[in-house]
Amino acid sequence: MRIDFLTLFPRFFESPLSDAIFQRAREKGLVSFNTYNIRDYTHDRHRTADDYPFGGGAGMLLKPEPVFECLEDVLKDKRQNDEPVPVILMTPQGKLFSQSIAFKLAEHKRMVIICGHYEGIDDRVREHLVTEEISIGDYVLSGGEIPALVVADAVIRLVPGVLGSNESAAGDSHTDGLLEYPQYTRPADFRGWKVPEVLLSGNHARVAAWRREQSILKTAHVRPDLLANASLTAAEKRLLERLAEEQSAPDISRTGERHAAN
Ligand code: ADE
Repeated sequence: MRIDFLTLFPRFFESPLSDAIFQRAREKGLVSFNTYNIRDYTHDRHRTADDYPFGGGAGMLLKPEPVFECLEDVLKDKRQNDEPVPVILMTPQGKLFSQSIAFKLAEHKRMVIICGHYEGIDDRVREHLVTEEISIGDYVLSGGEIPALVVADAVIRLVPGVLGSNESAAGDSHTDGLLEYPQYTRPADFRGWKVPEVLLSGNHARVAAWRREQSILKTAHVRPDLLANASLTAAEKRLLERLAEEQSAPDISRTGERHAAN
Protein backbone atom coordinates (compact mmCIF):
# COMPACT_ATOMS: atom_id res chain seq x y z
CA MET A 1 0.00 0.00 0.00
CA ARG A 2 1.15 3.51 -0.79
CA ILE A 3 -0.05 6.49 1.27
CA ASP A 4 0.58 10.05 0.09
CA PHE A 5 0.09 12.90 2.56
CA LEU A 6 -0.58 16.41 1.22
CA THR A 7 0.28 18.91 3.92
CA LEU A 8 1.63 22.36 4.72
CA PHE A 9 3.78 20.75 7.43
CA PRO A 10 5.71 17.82 5.91
CA ARG A 11 8.24 17.84 8.77
CA PHE A 12 5.41 16.95 11.11
CA PHE A 13 5.42 13.45 9.59
CA GLU A 14 9.16 12.78 9.82
CA SER A 15 9.29 11.33 13.31
CA PRO A 16 6.03 9.32 13.34
CA LEU A 17 6.70 7.77 9.94
CA SER A 18 10.19 6.70 10.96
CA ASP A 19 9.14 4.86 14.10
CA ALA A 20 7.01 2.03 15.45
CA ILE A 21 4.41 0.45 13.15
CA PHE A 22 5.00 2.91 10.29
CA GLN A 23 8.69 2.09 10.20
CA ARG A 24 8.13 -1.66 10.59
CA ALA A 25 5.56 -1.74 7.80
CA ARG A 26 7.93 0.18 5.55
CA GLU A 27 10.90 -2.05 6.36
CA LYS A 28 8.82 -5.11 5.51
CA GLY A 29 8.19 -3.53 2.09
CA LEU A 30 4.43 -3.63 2.67
CA VAL A 31 3.74 0.09 2.85
CA SER A 32 5.34 3.24 1.45
CA PHE A 33 4.71 6.82 2.49
CA ASN A 34 5.29 10.12 0.70
CA THR A 35 4.73 13.60 2.01
CA TYR A 36 4.08 16.49 -0.38
CA ASN A 37 4.32 20.12 0.64
CA ILE A 38 1.26 21.93 -0.70
CA ARG A 39 3.26 25.17 -0.53
CA ASP A 40 5.62 23.83 -3.22
CA TYR A 41 2.70 24.17 -5.65
CA THR A 42 2.16 27.90 -5.11
CA HIS A 43 3.48 30.31 -7.73
CA ASP A 44 3.94 33.63 -5.99
CA ARG A 45 7.05 34.99 -4.31
CA HIS A 46 5.60 34.51 -0.82
CA ARG A 47 4.40 30.95 -1.50
CA THR A 48 0.90 31.90 -0.41
CA ALA A 49 -1.31 28.90 0.30
CA ASP A 50 -4.17 30.65 2.09
CA ASP A 51 -6.55 33.55 1.48
CA TYR A 52 -9.53 35.37 3.01
CA PRO A 53 -13.01 33.82 2.70
CA PHE A 54 -15.38 35.48 0.23
CA GLY A 55 -18.30 36.98 2.13
CA GLY A 56 -16.14 37.68 5.16
CA GLY A 57 -15.68 35.74 8.35
CA ALA A 58 -12.89 34.79 10.68
CA GLY A 59 -9.70 33.06 9.61
CA MET A 60 -8.10 32.05 6.35
CA LEU A 61 -8.86 29.27 3.89
CA LEU A 62 -6.53 26.94 2.03
CA LYS A 63 -6.56 28.04 -1.63
CA PRO A 64 -7.71 25.57 -4.27
CA GLU A 65 -4.90 25.96 -6.87
CA PRO A 66 -1.95 24.52 -4.91
CA VAL A 67 -4.05 21.62 -3.60
CA PHE A 68 -5.29 20.73 -7.12
CA GLU A 69 -1.82 21.03 -8.64
CA CYS A 70 -0.25 19.00 -5.84
CA LEU A 71 -2.78 16.20 -6.23
CA GLU A 72 -2.40 16.21 -10.02
CA ASP A 73 1.34 15.78 -9.53
CA VAL A 74 0.83 12.95 -7.01
CA LEU A 75 -1.50 11.12 -9.38
CA LYS A 76 0.41 11.85 -12.59
CA ASP A 77 1.56 8.22 -13.01
CA LYS A 78 -1.92 6.82 -12.49
CA ARG A 79 -3.22 5.20 -15.65
CA GLN A 80 -6.83 5.32 -16.86
CA ASN A 81 -7.69 1.76 -15.90
CA ASP A 82 -5.83 1.67 -12.59
CA GLU A 83 -8.19 1.19 -9.68
CA PRO A 84 -9.63 4.43 -8.25
CA VAL A 85 -7.49 6.04 -5.55
CA PRO A 86 -9.35 7.28 -2.46
CA VAL A 87 -8.60 10.97 -1.93
CA ILE A 88 -9.39 11.67 1.70
CA LEU A 89 -9.79 15.10 3.22
CA MET A 90 -9.25 15.22 6.97
CA THR A 91 -11.84 17.63 8.34
CA PRO A 92 -14.05 17.93 11.42
CA GLN A 93 -16.96 18.15 8.94
CA GLY A 94 -16.28 14.62 7.69
CA LYS A 95 -17.82 11.24 8.33
CA LEU A 96 -16.79 9.84 11.71
CA PHE A 97 -13.82 7.48 11.27
CA SER A 98 -14.44 3.90 12.37
CA GLN A 99 -12.90 0.46 12.20
CA SER A 100 -15.20 -0.43 9.31
CA ILE A 101 -13.94 2.58 7.30
CA ALA A 102 -10.38 1.43 8.12
CA PHE A 103 -11.18 -2.05 6.74
CA LYS A 104 -12.57 -0.56 3.52
CA LEU A 105 -9.55 1.69 3.01
CA ALA A 106 -7.17 -1.23 3.70
CA GLU A 107 -8.50 -2.96 0.56
CA HIS A 108 -6.91 -0.27 -1.63
CA LYS A 109 -3.39 -0.35 -3.06
CA ARG A 110 -2.93 3.34 -2.44
CA MET A 111 -4.63 6.38 -0.99
CA VAL A 112 -4.05 10.09 -0.69
CA ILE A 113 -4.74 12.05 2.50
CA ILE A 114 -5.13 15.84 2.34
CA CYS A 115 -4.49 17.60 5.64
CA GLY A 116 -6.73 20.63 5.97
CA HIS A 117 -5.49 23.71 7.78
CA TYR A 118 -6.42 27.23 8.73
CA GLU A 119 -10.17 27.77 9.16
CA GLY A 120 -10.84 25.31 6.36
CA ILE A 121 -10.36 24.70 2.67
CA ASP A 122 -11.95 26.15 -0.46
CA ASP A 123 -15.04 24.00 -0.99
CA ARG A 124 -14.16 23.26 -4.63
CA VAL A 125 -11.47 20.92 -3.29
CA ARG A 126 -14.11 18.96 -1.41
CA GLU A 127 -16.52 19.03 -4.35
CA HIS A 128 -14.20 18.16 -7.25
CA LEU A 129 -11.12 16.45 -5.82
CA VAL A 130 -11.96 14.60 -2.67
CA THR A 131 -13.66 11.19 -2.62
CA GLU A 132 -14.22 11.05 1.16
CA GLU A 133 -14.17 13.49 4.03
CA ILE A 134 -13.18 11.94 7.34
CA SER A 135 -13.28 13.29 10.89
CA ILE A 136 -11.57 11.46 13.75
CA GLY A 137 -13.97 12.80 16.36
CA ASP A 138 -16.31 15.56 17.40
CA TYR A 139 -13.65 18.07 18.35
CA VAL A 140 -11.52 20.50 16.39
CA LEU A 141 -7.76 20.14 16.03
CA SER A 142 -5.46 22.76 14.55
CA GLY A 143 -4.81 20.76 11.42
CA GLY A 144 -5.33 17.47 9.63
CA GLU A 145 -1.83 16.05 10.25
CA ILE A 146 -2.58 14.18 13.47
CA PRO A 147 -5.92 12.90 12.11
CA ALA A 148 -4.11 11.74 8.93
CA LEU A 149 -1.65 9.73 11.03
CA VAL A 150 -4.53 8.26 13.03
CA VAL A 151 -6.19 7.04 9.84
CA ALA A 152 -2.91 5.76 8.36
CA ASP A 153 -2.08 3.82 11.55
CA ALA A 154 -5.53 2.22 11.76
CA VAL A 155 -5.39 1.25 8.07
CA ILE A 156 -1.85 -0.10 7.76
CA ARG A 157 -2.19 -2.43 10.75
CA LEU A 158 -4.92 -4.16 8.71
CA VAL A 159 -2.62 -4.71 5.72
CA PRO A 160 -1.75 -8.43 5.75
CA GLY A 161 1.73 -9.04 7.19
CA VAL A 162 2.15 -5.65 8.88
CA LEU A 163 1.40 -7.02 12.34
CA GLY A 164 3.69 -9.80 13.50
CA SER A 165 2.44 -13.33 14.12
CA ASN A 166 2.12 -12.60 17.85
CA GLU A 167 -0.10 -9.61 17.16
CA SER A 168 -3.42 -9.68 15.50
CA ALA A 169 -6.05 -7.20 14.47
CA ALA A 170 -8.74 -9.90 14.73
CA GLY A 171 -9.30 -9.49 18.49
CA ASP A 172 -9.12 -5.70 18.47
CA SER A 173 -11.84 -3.62 20.02
CA HIS A 174 -14.45 -2.64 17.39
CA THR A 175 -13.57 -5.47 14.98
CA ASP A 176 -16.69 -7.40 16.04
CA GLY A 177 -18.65 -4.36 17.19
CA LEU A 178 -17.63 -4.84 20.84
CA LEU A 179 -14.88 -3.44 23.04
CA GLU A 180 -12.03 -5.79 23.87
CA TYR A 181 -12.09 -7.86 27.09
CA PRO A 182 -9.63 -7.08 29.92
CA GLN A 183 -6.20 -8.70 29.63
CA TYR A 184 -3.52 -9.50 32.20
CA THR A 185 0.09 -10.62 32.21
CA ARG A 186 2.44 -11.78 34.95
CA PRO A 187 2.53 -11.53 37.93
CA ALA A 188 -0.73 -13.36 38.69
CA ASP A 189 -0.87 -11.51 42.00
CA PHE A 190 0.23 -7.87 41.90
CA ARG A 191 -0.04 -5.99 45.21
CA GLY A 192 -2.82 -8.33 46.23
CA TRP A 193 -4.84 -7.74 43.02
CA LYS A 194 -5.28 -11.18 41.51
CA VAL A 195 -5.77 -12.11 37.89
CA PRO A 196 -9.23 -13.71 37.39
CA GLU A 197 -8.90 -17.39 38.21
CA VAL A 198 -10.43 -18.54 34.93
CA LEU A 199 -7.46 -17.15 32.98
CA LEU A 200 -5.10 -19.42 34.92
CA SER A 201 -7.31 -22.48 34.46
CA GLY A 202 -5.87 -23.61 31.12
CA ASN A 203 -9.44 -24.34 30.02
CA HIS A 204 -9.65 -22.67 26.59
CA ALA A 205 -13.41 -22.93 26.30
CA ARG A 206 -13.96 -21.32 29.71
CA VAL A 207 -11.43 -18.59 28.89
CA ALA A 208 -13.15 -17.86 25.56
CA ALA A 209 -16.59 -17.73 27.21
CA TRP A 210 -15.29 -15.44 29.98
CA ARG A 211 -13.64 -13.11 27.45
CA ARG A 212 -16.77 -12.89 25.34
CA GLU A 213 -18.89 -12.10 28.40
CA GLN A 214 -16.40 -9.49 29.61
CA SER A 215 -16.40 -7.87 26.14
CA ILE A 216 -20.17 -7.58 26.26
CA LEU A 217 -20.22 -6.26 29.83
CA LYS A 218 -17.47 -3.73 29.12
CA THR A 219 -19.29 -2.51 26.01
CA ALA A 220 -22.59 -2.27 27.90
CA HIS A 221 -20.91 -0.25 30.62
CA VAL A 222 -18.71 2.10 28.56
CA ARG A 223 -20.22 2.23 25.06
CA PRO A 224 -23.82 0.97 25.19
CA ASP A 225 -24.42 2.71 21.83
CA LEU A 226 -22.27 0.03 20.14
CA LEU A 227 -24.52 -2.83 21.24
CA ALA A 228 -27.21 -1.92 18.72
CA ASN A 229 -24.93 -3.10 15.88
CA ALA A 230 -23.14 -5.99 17.64
CA SER A 231 -24.23 -9.50 16.77
CA LEU A 232 -25.29 -11.18 19.99
CA THR A 233 -26.77 -14.60 20.68
CA ALA A 234 -30.14 -14.96 22.45
CA ALA A 235 -28.30 -15.94 25.66
CA GLU A 236 -26.09 -12.85 25.41
CA LYS A 237 -29.13 -10.63 24.94
CA ARG A 238 -30.66 -12.19 28.06
CA LEU A 239 -27.42 -11.46 29.95
CA LEU A 240 -27.77 -7.79 29.01
CA GLU A 241 -31.42 -7.74 30.04
CA ARG A 242 -30.47 -9.20 33.42
CA LEU A 243 -27.72 -6.60 33.78
CA ALA A 244 -30.15 -3.78 32.98
CA GLU A 245 -32.60 -5.15 35.59
CA GLU A 246 -29.83 -5.44 38.19
CA GLN A 247 -28.65 -1.92 37.51
CA SER A 248 -32.09 -0.51 38.06
CA ALA A 249 -32.21 -2.30 41.44
CA PRO A 250 -31.06 0.04 44.28
CA ASP A 251 -28.83 -2.44 46.20
CA ILE A 252 -26.19 -2.83 43.48
CA SER A 253 -25.99 0.75 42.35
CA ARG A 254 -22.22 0.59 42.97
CA THR A 255 -21.63 -1.70 39.96
CA GLY A 256 -18.68 -0.51 37.93
CA GLU A 257 -17.19 1.55 40.74
CA ARG A 258 -13.50 2.13 40.21
CA HIS A 259 -10.86 1.16 42.73
CA ALA A 260 -8.35 3.96 42.45
CA ALA A 261 -4.80 3.39 43.66
CA ASN A 262 -4.67 6.71 45.49
N1 ADE B 1 -9.00 18.66 11.42
C1 ADE B 1 -9.28 19.37 12.52
N2 ADE B 1 -10.02 18.67 13.38
C2 ADE B 1 -10.22 17.45 12.80
C3 ADE B 1 -10.92 16.28 13.19
N3 ADE B 1 -11.58 16.21 14.34
N4 ADE B 1 -10.90 15.24 12.36
C4 ADE B 1 -10.25 15.31 11.18
N5 ADE B 1 -9.59 16.39 10.75
C5 ADE B 1 -9.56 17.46 11.54
